[in-house]
Amino acid sequence: MNKKIIKIINKKNKSKIVSLTAYSKNIAQILDKYCDIILVGDSMANVLYGFENTHKITLQNMIQHTLSVKKGIKNSLLVVDMPKGSYKNKFVAKKNAKLIINKTKCDAIKIESNKKNFDIINEMVKSKIPVMGHIGYTPQFKKKFGIEGDTKKKINELLKEALLIEKAGAFSIVLECIAPVASKLITKNLKIPTIGIGSSSYCDGQILVTDDMLGISGFYPKFVKKYVALDRIIEKAVKKYTTEVRGNKFPSTKNFLNGPKFR
Ligand code: KIV
Repeated sequence: MNKKIIKIINKKNKSKIVSLTAYSKNIAQILDKYCDIILVGDSMANVLYGFENTHKITLQNMIQHTLSVKKGIKNSLLVVDMPKGSYKNKFVAKKNAKLIINKTKCDAIKIESNKKNFDIINEMVKSKIPVMGHIGYTPQFKKKFGIEGDTKKKINELLKEALLIEKAGAFSIVLECIAPVASKLITKNLKIPTIGIGSSSYCDGQILVTDDMLGISGFYPKFVKKYVALDRIIEKAVKKYTTEVRGNKFPSTKNFLNGPKFR
């Protein structure tokens, strides 16, 4: 098994796993200094491309952005989301996962659970494709965004689903928008690490969409903590640039290139 993946698994019950998303090299190279995992998430559909949901993002989009992200990564584990429709059955799933891995040299892929695709995970793992699972709110399969695991029955179903994903061979699992009590139970009962988003601090690690925590996505549900209002900082810089260009203050002679001087 990939050494970086073993390192992630070994963090369970020892130290928290830090993860964020990236879609490009410039962001990835900053995250790489701090993150254990960098995910090229299909959230790029909403965040970057402005689509209503994640469904229209293509395998080619995922590969293209991963190639950029990979250029900024030296240390973190690079995980790539398989887009909707790219893992319909075990044959298609293996073919597309191998395509992503061969083209981008990423470390692992992530697939969302539809409560039935455990055999697909197992087939991929048997073919030496490292898989991260994803349960709870799964945007590729669910229409309604909201809390998951809010009744005893639903909590038990989520636990069963997580255990089946672990049994299928996934090396970790994302818990999205799962009630704290359910996250705690799942994390306690699984040997593989759980990575939470909107799923409390009981998980073994956390992930956020980077654009959300930087304050440039415009999407800030309760579980997102904005660590900076980057939108305001960018706006300030753009406003200053505009004023300077219109006032003929930029470029100043300091920004002139050296060249022949004519009279
Ligand atoms: O696509 C994504 O960014 C994700 C995270 C929210 C876990 O799947």
